Amino acid sequence: MARGLTLRPASEADRDALWRLHSRSVAALCRGAYSSLEVRTWVELLRPEGYLRPEQPRTVLVAERGRHLVGFGQLDPRQGELEALYVAPEEAGHGVGSALLSALETLAWRAGAHGVSLDASLNAETFYRTRGYVRLHAAQRVLTPEVQLSCVRMQKRRSTLSLLLGERRGEAFVSRRPEP
Ligand SMILES: CC(C)(COP(=O)(O)OP(=O)(O)OC[C@H]1O[C@@H](n2cnc3c(N)ncnc32)[C@H](O)[C@@H]1OP(=O)(O)O)[C@@H](O)C(=O)NCCC(=O)NCCS
Repeated sequence: MARGLTLRPASEADRDALWRLHSRSVAALCRGAYSSLEVRTWVELLRPEGYLRPEQPRTVLVAERGRHLVGFGQLDPRQGELEALYVAPEEAGHGVGSALLSALETLAWRAGAHGVSLDASLNAETFYRTRGYVRLHAAQRVLTPEVQLSCVRMQKRRSTLSLLLGERRGEAFVSRRPEP
């Protein structure tokens, strides 16, 4: 894992920080692949209360460097659906996204998922491809009746190797989790 980085489950106290990081990440890292209207609409729809919704249980991991939140990822483990993966713009390219993705995959394998699926932003397709995901088909995320985001449906199947490696990584990850 990237040096100086720790991963932990998100808590309700993280909501504002998740919202700020998510907004900054979209505004800075997705603007090359989407129009300014698309990026603006995307950011405007984000809300602090949209994270860790009690009626929608999800696995949300945050990555921290020191006391700074530098990334987060959200998974529906039973469906094997990676719903979000966002890194602070100033941290992009330093291994935060890979560390979060690997930990979330481990949790998905442990939950019995046969694969992890996601709608990749156009800017993130190469990132996922180099981490074993294959493109299934073009997709769209509807933001408003006027604004839809083009994205790519991708999937990674669970392999025996990923299960074994995941178990090892999972043990390391779980040992750092605070007691509930
Ligand atoms: C896609 C994203 C999660 C990747 O996270 P990350 O922490 O930048 O990823 P990593 O550092 O682990 O790996 C990025 C790769 O790009 C390379 N890279 C180098 N400079 C980079 C830069 N300035 N920005 C991004 N990647 C860079 C890294 O070396 C690495 O190469 P590798 O694939 O050969 O290992 C992150 O860029 C992001 O948050 N993007 C905006 C939100 C988004 O699109 N999320 C996905 C929604 S589906």
